[in-house]
Amino acid sequence: MSAKPPRYASWTACKLPLPELAEMKRRGEKIVMVTGYDAPSGRLADAAGVDLILVGDSSGMVVHGRESTVPVSLEEIVFMTQWVTRGAKRPLVVADMPFGSYETSNEQAITNAIRLVKDGGADAVKLERGGTSVDRAKAIVGAGVPVMGHVGLTPQTATVLGGFKAQGRTADRAQQLVDDAVALQAAGCFSIVIEAVPAAVARAATRALAVPTIGIGAGSDTDGQVLVWHDMLGYSEGHAPRFVKRYAEVGEVIAEALGRYADEVRSGAFPEEQHTYRMPDEERRAFESDAPSKASPRRR
Ligand code: KIV
Repeated sequence: MSAKPPRYASWTACKLPLPELAEMKRRGEKIVMVTGYDAPSGRLADAAGVDLILVGDSSGMVVHGRESTVPVSLEEIVFMTQWVTRGAKRPLVVADMPFGSYETSNEQAITNAIRLVKDGGADAVKLERGGTSVDRAKAIVGAGVPVMGHVGLTPQTATVLGGFKAQGRTADRAQQLVDDAVALQAAGCFSIVIEAVPAAVARAATRALAVPTIGIGAGSDTDGQVLVWHDMLGYSEGHAPRFVKRYAEVGEVIAEALGRYADEVRSGAFPEEQHTYRMPDEERRAFESDAPSKASPRRR
């Protein structure tokens, strides 16, 4: 069994203080992040000692069955963040800013980031890409909301990148990726997700940054790792990316249980006595003698 991380007496009951993440990097302690989309996932991740929960727009694909993350709305992320924060107390909850919620202007980005914090209960927000997102990150941080960056494979702009495929595989693109990460740090980001890049590129970015990197498909040299809940638990449809390790086959457990339930309903084996409410015998007898039937129509 792995040792549980410490609980903190901070200004909000036992919440992991944000600056502790940079300290963890300095101490060489790995940071654990997982996505979550509802109260049970928040509660279970908290109980497992996870440090960060990402209310990711991956929900659009793994929960809502869409082809991409692009259609996910701010409202959806606000709702899911409310649910997750009801379940998770110690982990920092990071809400993804969905596509279209921060690209137009710094004002739009600040307004929507504040919405995720005030209405959703998020501790921080995440946005994708370098480029114009660097300015947006700076504006949001300036408004008092902690921001996590995200470089490499950025699913919101997968079309521009040529699909869901590894990034930074030429020297030029690798350097661009490290430069983007450095620019996001300079803009005030407290951490950067690095997705689907060669390990050497993630290692270089991790060394270049004082803030922690969180890898997904980026090798083992990042300061932490993140996986998508449904992928790692064997609860997603279709083919998971090669960087996913399945820690359980929850989908198989559910399918087997549903099959048994259906069989038992059809055979009458469920419900049993223990699943059924009773009433006092005399009340039941009075009720049954009073109950309408073909033989004796019910008295009024
Ligand atoms: O939306 C998401 O789940 C993400 C992770 C893959 C990092 O952005």
